[in-house]
Amino acid sequence: MKIEKRDWFFIGLVAVILAIFIAISGEEKTKPVPNNATHKSVYEAAYKNAPGPDASLFKKTFFKPSKKDAEKLCEPCHNAKGIILPPNHPPKHRCLFCHKLLN
Ligand code: HEC
Ligand code: HEC
Repeated sequence: MKIEKRDWFFIGLVAVILAIFIAISGEEKTKPVPNNATHKSVYEAAYKNAPGPDASLFKKTFFKPSKKDAEKLCEPCHNAKGIILPPNHPPKHRCLFCHKLLN
């Protein structure tokens, strides 16, 4: 089978989509926020409005953690505890976009 010009377009498109997919999944390797005693306040702030065990399935499905409230806590505490970010750390507003919460 001969590969036509428009086939190459299709192959190129698949390659681009694959590359984007790999780039996005690479982000997930960023360390999550540890779910430990130290970060308890973060999880409490994020899940303070979490639906209870007998809330409707609708509420549970569309629940979003209060990330902005939780993010206010990160830097004050890290600074107080002397936790320094790696020198090549990316721009750091919105911590929780990159550092995911564990459930
Ligand atoms: C009450 C203090 C406190 C708050 C609030 C806090 N941290 Fe931390 N964080 C620490 C300490 C202390 C460490 C050092 C390791 C440990 O004890 O868990 C740490 C470590 C980390 C690490 C490295 C974990 C690892 O595996 O090496 C990440 C990532 C992190 N914090 C992200 C966050 C983010 C994002 C927030 C806000 C959403 C946050 N932290 C809020 C105290 C805090
Ligand atoms: C654009 C994505 C992004 C944002 C936003 C971001 N980080 Fe990071 N962070 C990273 C990457 C990538 C690394 C280095 C890889 C790793 O170790 O997770 C890192 C590393 C860290 C580490 C060191 C983890 C270790 O190796 O012990 C800490 C602590 C940390 N970030 C805290 C924060 C805090 C606090 C905020 C918000 C003020 C924040 N980060 C925002 C991407 C991000």
